[in-house]
Amino acid sequence: AQIQFDAKSVEQFVGANELKEIQPLITMADQELRNGTGAGSDFIDWLNWPSDYDKEEFARIKAAAKQIQSDSKVLVVIGIGGSYLGAKMAFDFLHPSFNNELADDQRKGVKVYFAGNSMSASYINDLIRVIGDQDFSVNVISKSGTTTEPSIAFRVFKQKLIEKYGEAAAKKRIYATTDAKKGALHDEAQAAGYETFVIPDGIGGRFSVLTAVGLLPIAASGADVDQLMAGAKSAQEEYTETDLTKNAAYHYAALRRILYDKGYTTELLINWEPSLQYLSEWWKQLMGESEGKNQKGIYPSSANYSTDLHSLGQYIQEGRRDLFETVVTIDQPNTDLDVPKTADNGDGLQYLEGKTINEVNATAAQGVVLAHLDGGVPNLAIRLPKQDAFTLGHLIYFFELAVGISGYTFAINPFNQPGVEAYKTAMFALLGKPGYEEETKAFRARLNK
Ligand code: PA5
Repeated sequence: AQIQFDAKSVEQFVGANELKEIQPLITMADQELRNGTGAGSDFIDWLNWPSDYDKEEFARIKAAAKQIQSDSKVLVVIGIGGSYLGAKMAFDFLHPSFNNELADDQRKGVKVYFAGNSMSASYINDLIRVIGDQDFSVNVISKSGTTTEPSIAFRVFKQKLIEKYGEAAAKKRIYATTDAKKGALHDEAQAAGYETFVIPDGIGGRFSVLTAVGLLPIAASGADVDQLMAGAKSAQEEYTETDLTKNAAYHYAALRRILYDKGYTTELLINWEPSLQYLSEWWKQLMGESEGKNQKGIYPSSANYSTDLHSLGQYIQEGRRDLFETVVTIDQPNTDLDVPKTADNGDGLQYLEGKTINEVNATAAQGVVLAHLDGGVPNLAIRLPKQDAFTLGHLIYFFELAVGISGYTFAINPFNQPGVEAYKTAMFALLGKPGYEEETKAFRARLNK
């Protein structure tokens, strides 16, 4: 197995009989997903994607990444939600911390900065200053092609490109990842002749990291997209059994569901490495947007250890008992460092001499599991052998499959996101977007504007 799913620390909360009893529900979910008979089954192309992905486009992505590396120092990646979080997760997971600050010969690919994931003018202005006079390209990513945040950022950076390179050369520095046939971004890309990549119809935003959405920025950053896809394929091949005792992704889905039914309605994805923070952010969208429907679903949250043990730790240990943790650790982190030896013991750390910082971190992780179990927090564990592209690809597929199964156990459609439209309607109405005239009146009246 490429990753180890370990449920030992949940045994005091979940009986073996409960796992047996949930198997029929898991079997039903498995059939719905695999036979395409469940709700939202027109959005399950991610299921066989690691073997069925478009190889011709994949080659084009790698060629575009090379082109970006040869003519740019910086790639600005514009997108939000499912068109952002996967690439950001992979960028942080697969490169050293501070990758953008490393000297050019220390970094594998271009510097990657993300934009269009908020509406902060300060953020955009600060990024423009950071780019300065460095050569840059833009990858704008939007399935609908009409999302407000990336559309605004794209206008800004397109203008900057035109100012710097002129209209014709600017067009050669814009890569658009969007729907194959429709949307404002699609239409603009066609008219302007930007190189385009496709977000497949059958793959929703939060499942799209292994499509061009994630692959182009990841490849441009110099990470190994072949290994990423190979890792995902290894997961596709590994998690095929319906029996949850033989399928770690189903086991995870089943345990989460059992815990939810017992009142553990919030799951914290825990990491012990700062470079895994965006794994949690990506996972939160995947889980929350898939399950949070019909007043049901586990609330996905996260904590970064040991940092948050000094802030959220008190609540997790002794607050309301509706939390469980899924702890992601790395068996062999990429680098290590000895705890320095000193002549005196002024700081009281002599007992750690002879250990490495990774050893201290790993021991802290073991201690925290015990303390949290004593505090009544069920713990699930996911151990990654390494922090590399193959492992990440495998893990991505593991979580995608788990939430597909888990979603059907909640009798909801895990693949739509009707709820995200509500705020957009209110926002567009208040901003006076054409087509929203009625709503504009109603919403403005509510604000007494
Ligand atoms: O999962 C989703 O549907 C959302 O998070 C979208 O990914 C996000 O709103 C961005 O949408 P788009 O790619 O259409 O710009």
